[in-house]
Amino acid sequence: MVSHSRWRACLSVPLSYKEQIPVFGIGWVRAQYSPEMNSSYCTLLSAFIALLAVFVSLPLLRPDAHSFFMPFNFEGWLSWRAPTADLVLRNAVIYTSDDSLPFADSLAVRNGRILRLGNYSYVKELVGFGTKELNLKGKIVVPGFIDSHVHLIPGGLQMSRVQLRGVSERDEFVRRVKEAVRKSKPGSWILGGGWNNDLWGGALPMASWLDEITPYNPVWLSRMDGHMGLANSLALKLAGVTNLSEDPNGGTIMRTPTGEPTGLMIDSAMNFVHPYIPEVSIGERREALNKASNFALTQGVTTIVDFGRFFPGSSIELSWEDFSDVYQWADSLGKMRIRVCLFFPLETWSRLLDVVNKVGHAMSQWIHLGGVKAFADGSLGSNSALFYEPYVEEPHNYGLQVSDYEKLFNMTLAADNYGLQVAIHAIGDRANDLILDMYDSVLAKNGMRDRRFRIEHAQHLARQTPARFGEQRIVASVQPEHLLDDFECATKKLGLDRAQRGSYLFQSLLTSNAQLAFGSDWPVVNINPLGGIRTAMKRIPPNSKDAWVPSECLSVDDALKAYTISAAQACFLDNDIGSLTPGKLADFVLLSTDSWDDFAAEGYASVEATYVGGVKAYP
Ligand SMILES: *[C@@H]1O[C@H](CO)[C@@H](O)[C@H](O)[C@H]1NC(C)=O
Ligand SMILES: *[C@@H]1O[C@H](CO)[C@@H](O)[C@H](O)[C@H]1NC(C)=O
Ligand SMILES: *[C@@H]1O[C@H](CO)[C@@H](O)[C@H](O)[C@H]1NC(C)=O
Repeated sequence: MVSHSRWRACLSVPLSYKEQIPVFGIGWVRAQYSPEMNSSYCTLLSAFIALLAVFVSLPLLRPDAHSFFMPFNFEGWLSWRAPTADLVLRNAVIYTSDDSLPFADSLAVRNGRILRLGNYSYVKELVGFGTKELNLKGKIVVPGFIDSHVHLIPGGLQMSRVQLRGVSERDEFVRRVKEAVRKSKPGSWILGGGWNNDLWGGALPMASWLDEITPYNPVWLSRMDGHMGLANSLALKLAGVTNLSEDPNGGTIMRTPTGEPTGLMIDSAMNFVHPYIPEVSIGERREALNKASNFALTQGVTTIVDFGRFFPGSSIELSWEDFSDVYQWADSLGKMRIRVCLFFPLETWSRLLDVVNKVGHAMSQWIHLGGVKAFADGSLGSNSALFYEPYVEEPHNYGLQVSDYEKLFNMTLAADNYGLQVAIHAIGDRANDLILDMYDSVLAKNGMRDRRFRIEHAQHLARQTPARFGEQRIVASVQPEHLLDDFECATKKLGLDRAQRGSYLFQSLLTSNAQLAFGSDWPVVNINPLGGIRTAMKRIPPNSKDAWVPSECLSVDDALKAYTISAAQACFLDNDIGSLTPGKLADFVLLSTDSWDDFAAEGYASVEATYVGGVKAYP
């Protein structure tokens, strides 16, 4: 009955209040605190009429008798009696992520939403003509995973490029590039990424590794964290980088002892090369969305929070181009397969505000306009995450602060003042404190409200910092799988003591009452929530038997919540997704295992099927 009272609550406010219309569900709650209520009445009215037209025509909604989506049929509402379910799952172990009913064995879906959960005799009342019933024979069902940090289109693009993820030898690195050269025309760029020099002992790759095999093809290969790239000599030549080029602000051109560029460019130095790389075509980007979405579904991911093609040094236009060329295009043609919550560069907050004022945060049940993002520092792998103490091997390097504090503060203040959610990338301990300080100052100026400030990564924290996340109710949007890649690297770069004391403090954050949201950072690491859950539970790095700081291991329950309900709260979508609760969208994942005890102990499972809005989307 949750859904009932929720819809009624919606209807009890003036209907000209566009975000309150429960057609799309997603997003209505945002209106409660959006300060931009003073758009003209006419705009609201026409937006409302347009929305009405859309929802009446949406085939998904099937406006038959007793539909959820007939908001004016008040008699219908009052006489609403158990309608017929479209789909019923039974004989399952349904983990709901909802503390009011943590487990159920049956679930009924109608019109894409969850109608009822409980025992079979209770759910069976909704079985009628046309109901499809699935006997799951004791298998586990969990809410659709929400990946809180993804670069979706770059991920999809990377699926068709040189893949260097996991390469652990220089020879293999060179071989994969050679393979790509074989398939390319002379003159065309060879692009790829995912390499991690820590896997072959740490030596940074150089143009000279590739020059002999790539005389006619410029090459650009980004490191897995996106904070470094390797150009071959032809690419350097095209980009005009020589021994006379100076390091830009916030970036480094790596050089040989004699001052020649090695080909490796760090952070904003990547800007020397970026402009010479041909734009990816619209067609490639659309195909990337499709590939990426299908891949996400195989992993049980039904919603992602997208940080797009925005990296330090990249153009702020790219996210907006993808929004119009790819996402809106796909949505208008019914081609969206997963739900996306989009974040845009903080510099462009007023552009986002304009769009939100016109259409609301919920563009459709597929596209949610999230908020804005900026960067505080670089990454650990590139020695550019900002710390209080220097890198062990570089006693003068504390990392890079990639954004001017006052500018960041001014923009955050303005965006927050208009009700936009702000997310800032911070990896090093000092960067995290810097952003927590800034968030505090913004709060002091703009006053209390439900704003859910986010810090993306929150990877290395000083002793008092988890408590600050809790006190300030900041979302820690963290990526458990990074822990596997970083174990050796962090120990080497920070020293064992610092690495152990301050890295990936998931349990400390939870104990401090911080909001934990899990994600992958794909394509930096794979989209793989079940892997992330197991990693958060076990924290066992590759080639190791022991947990990395066992006291930071999470229970299966906490890990699942961080990938579902807590991730939904972190992006303001908890009214529609994140738990299996009557009234929410029926996004769920069927796992391969039928033993909850084994899963809770070991965290091993694989995805057997993924449902989005009650419809099987994978396989
Ligand atoms: C099934 O669930 C209903 C509703 O929650 C409850 O009233 C009933 O007692 C339950 N039946 C059994 C056999 O547990
Ligand atoms: C740069 O390289 C050129 C050609 O290799 C050389 O003649 C010159 O001395 C170098 N300049 C510096 C500042 O190292
Ligand atoms: C930030 O805002 C203040 C007050 O409006 C202004 O004086 C200052 O110049 C701004 N700083 C930057 C870097 O934009």
